[in-house]
Amino acid sequence: MRIDILTLFPEMFQGPFSESIIKRAQEKGAVEIHCHNIRDYSTNKHKKVDDYAFSGGAGMVMSIEPIAILIEKLKAEREYDEIIYTTPDGQTLNQSISNQLSLKGNLMILCGHYKGVDQRVRDQYITMEISIGDYVLTGGELAAAVISDSVIRLIPGVISDETSALTDSFQDNLLAPPVYTRPADYKGWKVPDILLSGDTKKVEAWKEQQAYQRTKERRPDLLK
Ligand code: ADE
Repeated sequence: MRIDILTLFPEMFQGPFSESIIKRAQEKGAVEIHCHNIRDYSTNKHKKVDDYAFSGGAGMVMSIEPIAILIEKLKAEREYDEIIYTTPDGQTLNQSISNQLSLKGNLMILCGHYKGVDQRVRDQYITMEISIGDYVLTGGELAAAVISDSVIRLIPGVISDETSALTDSFQDNLLAPPVYTRPADYKGWKVPDILLSGDTKKVEAWKEQQAYQRTKERRPDLLK
């Protein structure tokens, strides 16, 4: 997979993409991530990338030209399966969307800022608009990092234990059951006996029951 991120703040991605599983995914060649600074495509002598809204009102709008130049350049180099715009008014990200995106080859993610991008960018180029939740961030960068992280970890081979992505919370619309590790007894706080029983069938049934119980208590909406 290849992900191209179009942003005014490429350095914001250095942390999330240079640690742990996402770092290893790039080293293994499962994903290539390219961050592009939209400002580099401004034709303005002051490298301006935004302007006042025609409608008036507070806040600047990201201009169409530098974004259009960058998107056209990338599209001329390869075909993109989706061109995603991160915005609080997009569809809310969930595991099903991440699963679908993990099967794609080339993704582009445009990060919004200020009052957002000129609507013509959305109309002409964007194929998917994604929000990561009902709250407003300072910009789309953290949302793009969240989307990328949730998608990359699902690419086959990225998580070493193949079954582990399949047993995540949400993968079957259930939350994950509780987990324990050694010691079996810490200051009298004990691990449930069943997990020490060695009876795999019973353990599996217990996990299923716990997952269901947790979902019923915490996220009944997922059971509907
Ligand atoms: N930009 C600002 N807030 C956002 C959100 N919640 N999701 C995606 N992009 C955003």
